[in-house]
Amino acid sequence: MKVNHHALELEQNYLFSEIAKRLRAFQKENPERELLKLSIGDVTRPLSRVVTDAMKAAAEDMSHAETFHGYGAEQGELFLREAIAGYYAKRGTTIDADDIFISDGAKNDLGNICDLFDSDNTVLLPNPVYPVYFDTSIMSGRKVVFISGTKENGFLPMPDETIAADIIYLCSPNNPTGAVYSKAQLAEWIAYANKNNAVILFDSAYEAYIRDPELPHSIYEIPGAETCAIEINSLSKTAGFTGVRCGWTIVPKTLQFDGASLHQMWFRRTATKYNGCSYIIQRAAAAVFSEEGLAAVREDVNYYMENAAIIKKAMNEAGIMSTGGENAPYVWFEAPKGMSSWECFDKLLQEFGIAGTPGEGFGNAGKGWMRFSSFGTRETVQKAAAVLNQLK
Ligand code: MLT
Repeated sequence: MKVNHHALELEQNYLFSEIAKRLRAFQKENPERELLKLSIGDVTRPLSRVVTDAMKAAAEDMSHAETFHGYGAEQGELFLREAIAGYYAKRGTTIDADDIFISDGAKNDLGNICDLFDSDNTVLLPNPVYPVYFDTSIMSGRKVVFISGTKENGFLPMPDETIAADIIYLCSPNNPTGAVYSKAQLAEWIAYANKNNAVILFDSAYEAYIRDPELPHSIYEIPGAETCAIEINSLSKTAGFTGVRCGWTIVPKTLQFDGASLHQMWFRRTATKYNGCSYIIQRAAAAVFSEEGLAAVREDVNYYMENAAIIKKAMNEAGIMSTGGENAPYVWFEAPKGMSSWECFDKLLQEFGIAGTPGEGFGNAGKGWMRFSSFGTRETVQKAAAVLNQLK
């Protein structure tokens, strides 16, 4: 047997596992010190009551022969797919419920979707980038090319006709930089993809955090996306589902490549390798899209965005240059005094007990930058904000 040697090309640890390891070591060495976690984007607010009530009711369904559910529909239950289509329709975006596939979260599908593409394809990644896109491309032996996000382009790299690519990952609002593509910018990406016979994998996991009414929440708000884009989203950050697990992938039937339907291929792949998200969780997910559920989403989003505003204010006062945090739950900032990302990570941790994420962990374009998540509790955020002026 030979192992997949491409898997051995990865860094030893996944970025967030490496950070978790370092935080555990810090806590072991400093059991008396408080750790202020602004590192991984993990939510801290509990699920809303309407969601847990739906879970309980669904669990009850499972205990009666008449309402018990065994294997579910391959694509996910229609009640949830229709609820998601309704969520898009509220913003005027028409999505066919039949094009939606329910998953157990965005991360899995962001990697799994590549089962549909030849390993000979070239992957184009913005840099800095969510490590899952890079790691997954390397594991599958695909060639990766980068396009850099910089302070100058507002961390929103645009297509370059001199770069040939087949698979393009875009994340907007962006993890890690918090930058958001405008409709005009996405239109340029769509034109590039359609012209070059490329597919866009659009990660919209943070769309609920967009406050500017002009910014697009879905790539399907822009004409032409239906012939080049797959959209992947999740309830992790929208409704506190990081530990519950539920997301969706939209593969329109209009996506035809090489004479094949990506929708049919994804259906086939899903039916073969996946038995679906559990009935109980799908009921809980559907409750998110009820009036009460969406009101709870707004409340959570407001809470986390207020956290972001507190962090940004403290940075402004301390003279630390930051971006993001306005339409995204991540604040991206330059490590002061020319520190490297990991030096800044160590200083924050050792001197102030603050955990951040080194920008360098998102690719070399993140060198010298750091990311703070605004998903902490208000107390954590306020304590961290109070000492940021000492970092400069
Ligand atoms: C992050 O911190 O970037 C995210 O929480 C990671 C993830 O969503 O997998």
